[in-house]
Amino acid sequence: MPAKPHVVVVGSSNTDMVIRSPRLPRPGESVVAGHFYMAAGGKGANQAVAAARAGAHVTFVARLGTDVFGDQAIAGFHREGIECRWIARDPKTPSGIALILVAEDGENLISVALGSNLKLTPADVERAADAIARAGALVVQLEVPLPAVRKAVALARRSRVPIVFNPAPAPRKPLPKSLLPQIDYLVLNETELEVISGSSDFTAARGLLDAGVGYVILTRGKRGAAVLDGTPRPRLIPGYKVKAVDAVGAGDAFVGTLATFIAEGRPLEQALGLANAAAALSVTRKGAQPSMPTRTEILRFAARHRESGRGRWH
Ligand code: RIB
Repeated sequence: MPAKPHVVVVGSSNTDMVIRSPRLPRPGESVVAGHFYMAAGGKGANQAVAAARAGAHVTFVARLGTDVFGDQAIAGFHREGIECRWIARDPKTPSGIALILVAEDGENLISVALGSNLKLTPADVERAADAIARAGALVVQLEVPLPAVRKAVALARRSRVPIVFNPAPAPRKPLPKSLLPQIDYLVLNETELEVISGSSDFTAARGLLDAGVGYVILTRGKRGAAVLDGTPRPRLIPGYKVKAVDAVGAGDAFVGTLATFIAEGRPLEQALGLANAAAALSVTRKGAQPSMPTRTEILRFAARHRESGRGRWH
């Protein structure tokens, strides 16, 4: 059997406290008749689990609190076969918690107390330098401090490891100009593009290419993804129509799966088609990490839709 691709994820881990109700409340309003569940979440951890289930050997670099939420998160990573050697435990700050409201049509609202995620330091990342240097792809997002993200990017860059950068949640300030030429794959949704570039159209995305990004990959929900790479027209990768149950973590399913298939050496369009399939499958299920599909599910789903001529990616 060929060796698994190696993906290193540097990022956040949260516990998601979710209430699912008929609709989302407006400010000041209470909506009753919801039900509650708790699920493992956090953008970095979700991406790590997505990559592991898609077939990668995953190293996760993070900082968790010394509390029951941190213990539970790490137990979950072990069950997924994720390498946890470089997860630091913070003695003073609690693990991240996300309060999430999900409506019956799958829409959601999320408020996050990032806790120990905000204590991840460049030194924490430096400790995983060897793992990053040996990886087939590095994945980073923005629920941890930018200096830690920049350290991971610099280490990957030094060893020519492809960098998948997901600027989520949307940063409050534009990304530093010097960071953009270091990013191979910038994966973002229309909201994030608007915050970063002032507009959510393809011209704004092209501006990021001009600033030095290798590929801009715009995720567009059920409309699929668009990839811009300096050729005159964006390439559109169709999405899949599914019955949405819970969209929390769908973007993370996309990012983790994409990184796995990039690390595996698949052509980009094929990797994007499979990432779309993983995101579609994840919205049909409840919870962030519990909703991540396995490699077999992703490949079967994509093949089924290819045969029926829907959601074709080549
Ligand atoms: O991307 C979804 C994630 O965002 C949730 O799991 C939640 O923890 C927040 O970080």
